[in-house]
Amino acid sequence: MKAPTSEQSFLIFGSPLIEQGEIDEVVACMESAWLGTGPRVAQFERDFAAYKGLQPTQVAAVNSCTAALHVSMVAAGLEPGTEVVTTPMTFCASVNAIIHAGLTPVLADVDPTTQCIDPAAIEAAITPRTGAILPVHFAGRPCEMDAIMANANRHGLMVIEDCAHAIETTWHGRKAGTFGDFGCFSFYATKNVVTGEGGMITGRDEAHIARAKVLALHGMSKDAWHRFGDEGYKHYQVVEAGFKYNMMDLQAAIGIHQLARVEQNWIRRKQIWNRYMEAFADLPIGLPAPCAPDTRHAYHLFTIMVDEAHCGISRDGFLDAMNARRIGTGVHYLSVPEHPYYQQRFGWRPEQWPNAMRLGRQTVSLPLSPKLTDEDVGRVIEATRSAID
Ligand SMILES: Cc1ncc(COP(=O)(O)O)c(C=O)c1O
Repeated sequence: MKAPTSEQSFLIFGSPLIEQGEIDEVVACMESAWLGTGPRVAQFERDFAAYKGLQPTQVAAVNSCTAALHVSMVAAGLEPGTEVVTTPMTFCASVNAIIHAGLTPVLADVDPTTQCIDPAAIEAAITPRTGAILPVHFAGRPCEMDAIMANANRHGLMVIEDCAHAIETTWHGRKAGTFGDFGCFSFYATKNVVTGEGGMITGRDEAHIARAKVLALHGMSKDAWHRFGDEGYKHYQVVEAGFKYNMMDLQAAIGIHQLARVEQNWIRRKQIWNRYMEAFADLPIGLPAPCAPDTRHAYHLFTIMVDEAHCGISRDGFLDAMNARRIGTGVHYLSVPEHPYYQQRFGWRPEQWPNAMRLGRQTVSLPLSPKLTDEDVGRVIEATRSAID
């Protein structure tokens, strides 16, 4: 093993690529003194709708994907206590949003190859109390949307797609977030399009999106931009008990330029992905499965599996070894039922979802940001190989 040199900087996991366009736009936004929800949010919504092939009335910008998930489930009008089937291989936000919407999460195990929710496990988890399915396009790989939509249609269920990893994802030519009743996207700092914090809701039904917009701003019938514009003061009415989930123009200023480069950044991450696949082909680690035909992976996370029995090092030992080599890594995710809150509240044990449990205990995400130089990628490869050998 080559020892890390003291001058080697720490390679931060998920560091976003920020360019001059968004820096200038943020400055222009500040100079305009319109920081809150306004014309830049409206432009970002129009641009995102165009990218997804939707009407601007079918999208709503919010301040996180967590907010998007929460508001979508409230706007879906599901009865309190209704069961929502989701995956144990996700960020806690997917499950917390179900709980905050007054609904009951039910887990269905993942396919061990794709790491996405298994449609057969969804079918087995459906009860007379089920009202919705919340699939997560894990790491940017599309879930099996034909089977999931067939499940949903058979049982009359709503579908809320968690597209936090899946801006560029397609399944059989159709874009993630356009299958279900709602799609929820994240622009968190490590995501494929960043606004710092931020999210977007897409919806099939314009009435759902109109309600989501009202819910995302206190339940008020008119947003502040319309109230304080130059057309004279407009009274608003509170029509629901809403939330404070609106996106700011300051955030949209970043997002407009990030979204304009979404395909360019995707190509760069694909190159890095392919380089990792080649460089690690002979190692005893698990590598991501090939993409299914007629699908597009968003290449959000490059996850490897470190099984101590084959690698001679535990997953956590590997994380430490990478850190010692000054490479930042991630874990996506320890399965949801590993966490004490869910164990205490729902009596869940990780063993009930064995595929997610095993994957969650072995998985490591390596850096995949488009910001990585070829030299950075070389460092990740060298560190990974030396930590495993
Ligand atoms: C699968 C998944 N769902 C939801 C979220 C929540 O996104 P946000 O941080 O924008 O609220 C994340 C964020 O990491 C995620 O990875």
